[in-house]
Amino acid sequence: MLATFAIDIQPTTASRIKELDPDNMVFGKLLADHMLVAEFTGREWQAPRLVPYGPLAVSPANSALHYGQAIFEGLKAYRQADGGVAIFRPLDNWQRLNTSAERMSMPSVPEDIFLQGLRELLKLDEPWVPNAPGSALYIRPFMFATDGFLGVRPSENYHFGIITCPVGVYFTKPLRVRFEQKYVRAAPGGAGYAKNAGNYGAAMLPTRLAQEEGYNQLLWTDASEHQYVEESGTMNVIFVIDGKLITPAVSTSILDGITRRSVLQLAQDWGMPVEERKVSSREVMDALIAGKLTEAFGVGTAVTIAPIATIGFEGQDYDLPTPTTEAFSRRVGVALEAIRSGQAPDVHGWMVRV
Ligand code: COI
Repeated sequence: MLATFAIDIQPTTASRIKELDPDNMVFGKLLADHMLVAEFTGREWQAPRLVPYGPLAVSPANSALHYGQAIFEGLKAYRQADGGVAIFRPLDNWQRLNTSAERMSMPSVPEDIFLQGLRELLKLDEPWVPNAPGSALYIRPFMFATDGFLGVRPSENYHFGIITCPVGVYFTKPLRVRFEQKYVRAAPGGAGYAKNAGNYGAAMLPTRLAQEEGYNQLLWTDASEHQYVEESGTMNVIFVIDGKLITPAVSTSILDGITRRSVLQLAQDWGMPVEERKVSSREVMDALIAGKLTEAFGVGTAVTIAPIATIGFEGQDYDLPTPTTEAFSRRVGVALEAIRSGQAPDVHGWMVRV
């Protein structure tokens, strides 16, 4: 693709913006008026288009449905203090989309289709970007195979799309999580580091079972020993032990979260010790029982920073101290929000104006 191209725009004639209630934004429920569509056919990407949000037609033999060549991303655009709109770290998401694509033997998406396409989409759906504190326009880029062919091989054709939805706070209460020591989210050498649909599908049963026991999310452990922490639900997880920020190092079974990277960067900026390494359930529980674990929280695009209130381990629940206003998770949440809304200097160049 060329560095700039004209995107064909077909505006909606039936906007749904009146359905947007800023006080009641359920994650993923009300999708904005338009979507970006781009097809990969004849071994190349065709020009992207912006069209009204709506259903897509797929063959019943669609190979994404049968064999799972489907990946996605999650990022957010924020209303700025001056009324404009800016996207948080979109190129990081573009790169990770292509890392996932490579793992799933799918074509990479050119930067201009992703970024220029996204900017044009956000210009068109600018009124959908909310401005209440903690709110954002959640952006969901995705790609899936479109061959109508039941043979097991990488598809030759693909659909890339971007849809968006206004969102508020994801979890309204601190979380109850428990260590998962039976089911596995991902194994070394598998596709856990890719944001492919199957990772999420396979997590549904174990997560539902934990939810039936009164937990919100799981603390996934490693596939071979069920000892080392991997992620928590759909988030990366960070612990504060003895004043140090400790988090599982990314690996082939852990997603390289962009919120995770941002939180670790801010901790380093503030001179806080950061350790990215293996973290065992035993270490976490010993520290919690000894009063050395002062905070645990999930980090992710959808959830931003989600404090953990209770950890279940071997059939027993253990409560964490309530975070004070000085708690790292609180301070980093406030600092990120200030950068994202344009109220604090963006020293790392994370924000991209629309
Ligand atoms: C995100 O945080 O964007 C995610 O991908 C989690 C999502 C599955 C809700």
